[in-house]
Formats: sequence, C-alpha cells, structure tokens
Amino acid sequence: MKLWGGRFDKETDALVNDFNSSISFDARMYRQDIEGSIAHAAMLGEQGIIAPEEAASIIDGLRGILADVEAGKVAFSEDNEDIHMNVETFLTQRLGAAGKRLHTGRSRNDQVAVDFRMYVRQAIGEITGLLVELEQVLVRQAKGEIDTIMPGYTHLQRAQPVTFGHYMMAYANMIRRDITRFEDCLERLDECPLGAGALAGSTHPLNRYRTAELLGFAKPTDNSLDSVSDRDFALEFLSACSILMMHLSRFSEEIILWCSWEFQFIELDDAYSTGSSIMPQKKNPDIAELVRGKTGRVYGSLVTLLTVMKGIPLAYNKDMQEDKECVFDAIDTVKMCVPVFAAMLDTMKVKPERMAQAASGGFINATDCADYLAKKGVPFRDAYTLVGRLVNHCIATGQTLDSLSMEEYKALSPVFEQDVYQALSLKTCVEQRRTVGGPAHEEVERQIAAIEDFLAKRVKA
Ligand code: ARG
Repeated sequence: MKLWGGRFDKETDALVNDFNSSISFDARMYRQDIEGSIAHAAMLGEQGIIAPEEAASIIDGLRGILADVEAGKVAFSEDNEDIHMNVETFLTQRLGAAGKRLHTGRSRNDQVAVDFRMYVRQAIGEITGLLVELEQVLVRQAKGEIDTIMPGYTHLQRAQPVTFGHYMMAYANMIRRDITRFEDCLERLDECPLGAGALAGSTHPLNRYRTAELLGFAKPTDNSLDSVSDRDFALEFLSACSILMMHLSRFSEEIILWCSWEFQFIELDDAYSTGSSIMPQKKNPDIAELVRGKTGRVYGSLVTLLTVMKGIPLAYNKDMQEDKECVFDAIDTVKMCVPVFAAMLDTMKVKPERMAQAASGGFINATDCADYLAKKGVPFRDAYTLVGRLVNHCIATGQTLDSLSMEEYKALSPVFEQDVYQALSLKTCVEQRRTVGGPAHEEVERQIAAIEDFLAKRVKA
C-alpha cells in the first residue's frame, strides 16, 4: 500500500504509477532529503514532539540509509513515487514504529522545497568554484598577451586597435558578473521552508529557527503558503545559468572565428579540437560549437520552469514536480561546459603576428589621425571629415595612412607634421588609450588587479 493509501480502496493504475512517479530523477536529491529529515527529527526530539530516544534512533537509521545509498546498496522503487517516500519507507522497514513518526509536523511540500533549495545551493557553490578557475585562466592569458595588439571590431569591421589582454579582460568582467549573479541568488535562497507543512504550518510546536540553523540557512521563510509554492530561487538560478551560457556562447563564436583559416588569430590545442571523418585537413573547434549549442538547452530550462510556474494558484500543485529535470539538466550542462571551456582557453596558442597583421594594413588608426588633428586645434568634426578624405585617397591609390608621404598629408592640411607617423603607429594608438577601462598596458594591469582582488576573496584555501 502507498504511504498515502489510507483513503483509497483500489491500487493505483500501473500507468498512473509511472506517470506520477519522480524517483527516476529526484533520487539525486537523496543526500539533501536525508539531511533535511535528520534536522527535522532532531528538532522534533528537542521540542518533545517525539521522544528524544526515538529522534535519536530515527537519526541513526537515516545515517545508515545514507551510507547504504552511497555504497550503492539501495534500490529505489517507482511504487514509492519519489525520494521522500522512498527514504521514509526504508526508515520504517528498519525501525518499525519510530520510523513512522518522522513525518510528524511535515509535508512532502515543505520537504521537497527544502531539498531542492539545498540542491541548488550546492550547485551554486560548485559552479562559482568552476567560474573562479575560468577567471584564473582569463587572467593568465591577459597577462601573457597584455601587449599583443589586435584589431577591435564593431559590426565585425575593424574599428580601433586593442590588445588580446584587453580582450580577455572583457570576458573576465562578464564572468565576474556571472559569479556575483549566482551569489545574489544564493542570498535570496538562504531561507528555510521546512516547517511550512503542506501549506499552513503546523499545530505542533515546531522550532523552525532550529531546523533552519541545522541546515545552514540564515532563517526560516516568512510565509507558509509562499514557502511551499515558491520556486523563484530555481528561476533565478536558471537565469544566472542562461546569462552565463550566453557569455560562453558569444566567446565560443569568437573562438570559432579566430581559429578559422581566414583569421588564424589562435590555434586550439590538438587535445581540445577534433578532426573530420572525410576531410583530412580539418581541425574543428567542436568544444566551442558544443558550448554555443548547449546554450539552447539551458535557455530551454529557464523557459520550461517559467512556463510551469506561470499559471498555478497557491500553494503546492503537482505541476511543480516538473521543476527538477530542467534545473538538473542546466546544472549538468553548465558543470560540463565551464571546465572544458576553461581548459580549451588555457591551452590555445595565440598568434600575435597574425593579429598584428590584421590590425595593420587598414585604417584602424583613422580615429587616432582625427584625434591628432583635434589635439592640434582642428575642431574634431572637421578633422573627421579631413581624415575621411585621406582614407578615400588611400583607397584610390592603394595605400594606408602610415604609408602616405608628408607631401600628401600636407596637401590635405598644413597642420600635419612629421610626428604624425609616430602618432599613428598602432603601439602609440593602444598606449595612448589610457582612459579607465581602456587597452593601454597599465590600464589593463589595473583591470587584472581588480579581478585578482575579486578572486582572492573567493579562492578556496
Ligand atoms: N515528488 C513531489 C515533487 O517533486 C514531492 C511533493 C509531492 N507533494 C504532494 N502533495 N504530492 O514535487
């Protein structure tokens, strides 16, 4: 008979049994479920709601079940529907009557809410740890390539010169925001729903502060109806995952471009690329492409849960059992993508000559040329027009700004002097961009120091 079988005369239909059951996916919350039950039993004993000796034997039994699950000695059953009833059934098989007292003052509704919060909390810890490692790779690459000049793009057209170090720090800033987004999520998640019961609390004198404390939460949740029907923490988590994946996907797109034969800005390590079964010359950026592709499934998870939640009245509804698979899939996907992406970046070979080549030979220093005139007193808008004409002249005569003769410069404006060549060298163009956030060497050093400071507070000892 089902744990809830008291008011039923018939067995559950076999199809319904399968349909209703969540054990195939919620079994992975076994640890959180058992820890939650241990805290609940301890509190019941302390409050005198059950006898202290019974609480002790329940806790003992639960620890035994945990050890058995971890040793692979336990087979969960579909008939027991979910992880909560599987564990409770094992406990009663072990202890008899005492096991049947565990569920006093509790419902699966507050139980699943606390299990799921703890599971997401743990995932956030693991993911931020992986992101810290990714940041370390970005910082290392940035330091190594702080003077490596490359073209910066807008509209994928060469725009102004930057450095590869500056570029890496752009992504480091994106990942820093991701880390803080997960941390924000953790802050709001940090309330314990246990003790909210099915929806309306309990007539037993539960100590919700105590269970919150035992389970490492800052405090109990404030409203019992909200406690059992809230999945905002999971939605915030999925949002943070989605934004992170969007960043990794954009980065992937650049990696894919950069290692194309057209760019050749980088080369991926053999261990982090793949070949083609027919074209012998190929070396493909499959990791970057898969990360870009897997972004879709993480967005899908967010949309799944938003849609599951959008129409359900207070409080718990069985729709909410659909909250788990999407979150688990997002956790697995992110945990797989981040370290492989970091390793790919860590082992890639940067090609400074190719980047320099792409940065020169064009008009990437045209803004600098206009700035040169502006610094000599020409109003910027006039300088801009003059340089536009100069660029036209270069295109017509197959030249670049640096290859023009002094006569050609003077023909356009007498303001040009010999120092224009120095002002237009790409090195000068980068080094003069010292504004906060810019690509100049010392400015990127400052950006690196800021990220290192952020990481120092988060690196595990
Ligand atoms: N397996 C359920 C879930 O994941 C647990 C809560 C069930 N509660 C209930 N009243 N049927 O949501």
